[in-house]
Amino acid sequence: MSMKSRRLFEPRRSLIIANLTRHFAIQVIAVMAVFSLVWLARTISYGLLSWASLSLAVGVCAGLLAWATNQPVWWRFIHSAFVPLVWAINSLDIEPGWFLLAFVLLLSIYRGAICGRIPLYLSNSHTAASLAALIEQRQARTVIDIGAGIGSVVAMIANKNNCAKITGIENAPLTWLIGMLVTKLCMSKRIDWRYGSLWEFEYSGFDIVYAFLSTEPMPELWVKLRYEMIRGSMLVSNSFPVPGIQPALVIEVNDSSGTLLYCYEF
Ligand SMILES: C[S@@+](CC[C@H](N)C(=O)[O-])C[C@H]1O[C@@H](n2cnc3c(N)ncnc32)[C@H](O)[C@@H]1O
Repeated sequence: MSMKSRRLFEPRRSLIIANLTRHFAIQVIAVMAVFSLVWLARTISYGLLSWASLSLAVGVCAGLLAWATNQPVWWRFIHSAFVPLVWAINSLDIEPGWFLLAFVLLLSIYRGAICGRIPLYLSNSHTAASLAALIEQRQARTVIDIGAGIGSVVAMIANKNNCAKITGIENAPLTWLIGMLVTKLCMSKRIDWRYGSLWEFEYSGFDIVYAFLSTEPMPELWVKLRYEMIRGSMLVSNSFPVPGIQPALVIEVNDSSGTLLYCYEF
């Protein structure tokens, strides 16, 4: 990736840090508020007020703060439940090593959700079939799945299409590892399975970029792709349109969830 392009997308990191700092601050403020109130009230001593009720009070306070600062609905639930759950799980007396193991496993699968609000969920086979048909129709030679999960779309496309070289890029370590096994099982020379961030990749060499991400990265992804992709190439976004941009085509996938593929031409 050129220096100019890298500089263009650097603000992303500070955005992620700002998000994490905001959520951390809500929890810290809630804890400090409850403990300050307890200290001020003085009539209630630690002996009389249990850790259970303190954690519940922090949960209520954090939930209210999340609501007052307009956090998305799921974050309000997460903030309300976080400290009460910490207390509840702590009282189960589980070996600390298990928590570390669970944390490392979750991080190595859901890194994208934590760092960029792009969780892991998979395209279904109907969607992959629609994408394969589009690749055939446009006679695309080079296709990339950005945030390729466990390689299921890459493998399906490689099995269905004869012409395309298909690349998959994924940055969650365990997900990537599973994807490597899945794509190796295909034994197709046309698959290029990569480890890395979709933000540090250059897309000028691709006829079709397939993305199944979330609402969060779409505006910034559009800026990056418009800057890098060449005339006549296409972004196909599963379920998440680019805000304010009219797609050239919307494909209705014939599946039970009514999946839409938003296709943008460059
Ligand atoms: C919704 S899943 C889609 C998986 C696959 N493309 C599919 O359609 O089945 C999004 C994937 O993007 C990955 N991801 C998130 N942020 C990423 C990044 N910065 N670079 C590469 N992959 C990322 C996540 O780990 C996750 O596996």
